[in-house]
Amino acid sequence: MRKPIIAGNWKMNKTRDEALQFIYAVKDHVASTDVVESVVCAPFPYLRCLVKRQGAFLRVGAQNMHFKSAGAYTGEVAPEMLTSIGVSYVVLGHSERREMFNETDETVNKKVHAAFENGLTPIICVGESLEQRETGATNAVVDTQTVAALEGLTVEQVKRVVIAYEPIWAIGTGRTATAEQANETIGYIRSVIERAYGREVAEAVRIQYGGSVNPSNIKELMAQEHIDGALVGGASLDPKSFLSLVNYQ
Ligand code: G3P
Repeated sequence: MRKPIIAGNWKMNKTRDEALQFIYAVKDHVASTDVVESVVCAPFPYLRCLVKRQGAFLRVGAQNMHFKSAGAYTGEVAPEMLTSIGVSYVVLGHSERREMFNETDETVNKKVHAAFENGLTPIICVGESLEQRETGATNAVVDTQTVAALEGLTVEQVKRVVIAYEPIWAIGTGRTATAEQANETIGYIRSVIERAYGREVAEAVRIQYGGSVNPSNIKELMAQEHIDGALVGGASLDPKSFLSLVNYQ
């Protein structure tokens, strides 16, 4: 059985005071890691203060990082820097970074390797644009992105990745993919993993859905065969809403 993983992605939101208010409001009310993994992915400046107060069951993730360990990369953050402050997850290849910050399949793959080398669990985002969905290219897009992101990993590493299927047209639009649409594409991603690594590995990999997930649709999404969790933007910002997502069971 795959353990569900629900992650909030704050993107570029919240002041430090708001981040602190959030963590104090949720830290003692998150479901046990026996039933669900709960993660909050916050902007870099707040990571340490969240880790210090994360409580027994909540974990903290970053939203990006560089793949190099050190050097002349002004403005960048290295994987070791994240592990050294107790961060456990990192979101990689979010469509906003692919679209606005020149993230490519190749840099995502380098970052996935760097995450494992540094003990971080990568949450790898894949997903198609509206045009790609309308022209029937969804499966081809997620196939290419998934294969490229996992290239060169060991079988044990592949088993530990988390993939987030986020159709770009459903992000921040209030337009959720139907639970069936999300399940179908996530099932396809699982078949891509099976093709490359075999059934046992494909059955072990956790694949989240992301795109306008909220407390009203989380249950229906999580009831689908292939959906193992959610990566949530807007609805993860409010403590109450975040708690109803991670405690959906
Ligand atoms: O990474 C989460 C995301 O892109 C979805 O955002 O606001 O539609 O939940 P939102």
